[in-house]
Amino acid sequence: MCGIIGATGSEPVLPVLLEGLARLEYRGYDSAGVALLADDGVWRRRRAGGNKSVAELTEAVGDAPPATTGIGHSRWATHGAPTEPNAHPHTDATGRLALAHNGIIENYRELARTLPQGGDEVTSDTDTEVLAHLVAARMHHGLGLADAVRAALAEVQGKFALAVVHADEPGLIVGARRGSPLIAGQADGTGLLASDIPAIHGRADQFFVIDNDRVVEVRPGSVRITDLSGREVELVGREVGWDLEAAEKGGYPDFMLKEIHEQPAAVRDTLLGRIVAGRLVLDQMRLSDDDVRQVDKVFVVATGSSYHAGMVGRLSIEHFAQLPTELEIASEFRYRDPVLDSSSLVVAISQSGETLDTMEAVAHTKAMSKARVLAVTIVVDSSLGRDADATLYTRAGPEVAVASTKCHVAQLVAMHVLALYLAQVRGKYYPEEVAHQLACLQRLPDRVQAAIDTAPAVTEVARRVEGARDFFFIGRGVGNAMALEGALKLKEISYLRAEGYPAGELKHGPIALIEPGVVVVAIATRSRLRDKLLANMQEVKARGAVVVALVDDEDADDAHVRALSDHVLSVPDAGHELFQPVVDVVPLQLFAYALAIARGNDVDRPRNLAKTVTVE
Ligand code: M6R
Repeated sequence: MCGIIGATGSEPVLPVLLEGLARLEYRGYDSAGVALLADDGVWRRRRAGGNKSVAELTEAVGDAPPATTGIGHSRWATHGAPTEPNAHPHTDATGRLALAHNGIIENYRELARTLPQGGDEVTSDTDTEVLAHLVAARMHHGLGLADAVRAALAEVQGKFALAVVHADEPGLIVGARRGSPLIAGQADGTGLLASDIPAIHGRADQFFVIDNDRVVEVRPGSVRITDLSGREVELVGREVGWDLEAAEKGGYPDFMLKEIHEQPAAVRDTLLGRIVAGRLVLDQMRLSDDDVRQVDKVFVVATGSSYHAGMVGRLSIEHFAQLPTELEIASEFRYRDPVLDSSSLVVAISQSGETLDTMEAVAHTKAMSKARVLAVTIVVDSSLGRDADATLYTRAGPEVAVASTKCHVAQLVAMHVLALYLAQVRGKYYPEEVAHQLACLQRLPDRVQAAIDTAPAVTEVARRVEGARDFFFIGRGVGNAMALEGALKLKEISYLRAEGYPAGELKHGPIALIEPGVVVVAIATRSRLRDKLLANMQEVKARGAVVVALVDDEDADDAHVRALSDHVLSVPDAGHELFQPVVDVVPLQLFAYALAIARGNDVDRPRNLAKTVTVE
């Protein structure tokens, strides 16, 4: 992961770099740094401040020179601890070159041995620093900065997005990409380079996506892109489409709460314009009806919360479209030998569209078959969106908090849209039944809002279990997916031990962990399996667990539910049990949020995490 920002113009660029770094923190924040081209070489400042690195860096740059070219970096550590010496940008031995990197240089040890001092010049524990010395060595042999970068990259194995500056060539930032995202932008005589659009949003009117194995030369008035041999590549500019306001907190104490409250809109917008007279119209998806009819097997690949959306999507596709569907964690899929052919459809779900594991699963698919790949993502122009044959965009707006909420809910809705679309085109469901289910989906925004309105009750339950250290989330069917999602949310922002488990599987081992004081959150909203779930609640209650039941509003006062539960939370019925996760997930998010806040945690930037995971 990591975030890169670079700027070169006629005015001091430090404010642009610091603003960009603050906006890129979702990519990693365990250290941050800037390097400016000053008269006598590179001026550099770095800070390793946990999730406050960019703030600490901003405090520490009061003595910076008024440089007009510079680069910055926010880091999510892979090689080497999150310390100041390991923070980027890294410099060469002369202190005239600075380099920032996102990705992993796999052969960094071998490359270090080829350096003039056999690697002794490398002072950090990172895989990155060797690149700074490698480029400097090529310049020492007479190459200009861009040529030196191209020459060095010919020897590099791994994934990278780079930004490099050298004091001998002021007014130039050289960037390069293989696998990790990078964009260039231009505005009013300032050249910009960044990992992602939010970093330069509001500054650049136009941006250029850098493809793999391309080198970009950014100058105050120009952007030039070449391949690794130096051959010029045509520039295709794109407009920046996001409303910056949407990325601000808008009166909420943090982005996570704001994004939880934006979920009704995310559901509504993901359906917007796609349902016409009771039918789904997905013209922008780039998958013809013949393509859809040809599909005989679906594979869903994703990671984290996107994987949990995939779990629900799989059940929805099997039920509505009656297609055999496999689901796999992306980082496992890419090392499997899945039986794919041209009739297979691989659905890759990724909020960011830049998750490396998911990208690699897509690359694996393409390398071994002619299967079609459909991306479910929010980011137009993301790497995944561009690599896929077809795209179903979720429309949740930019999500800043590391813990996914509104993007996850939009993914759930998108997966139902996909399932019903496959059913519609393949004629597996009567048109009026498709229309009925679509009408249910259209009622979800109000039900999600009602679930958000339970926040005071959820906060109260969280307060009552605040002292607990061990949590289980159990469910069956789609409730199992929500159990995993509820546990993931709690783990990532509260740092409490939480396990998500299929309720029926508890008795095969995990029930040994249930003892007085352990909290079990049971997803017991109405479904075919509700009675079995109630029996599982009984099993844990009998062993002393504190049971929190999540039920439908109609069951909130049910005597049996009350007898099995210490605390009851209720949400509206979603209209179909497969759609229930869209509503059920909300109190689970609020529960994790309340416990994390009670523990004084930074919910937007939890420790050790990054919003976009662009390493393996
Ligand atoms: O951008 P992606 O949807 O591919 O990200 C996948 C996971 O990294 C992500 O969902 C992660 O699990 C979240 N932090 C969960 O809240």
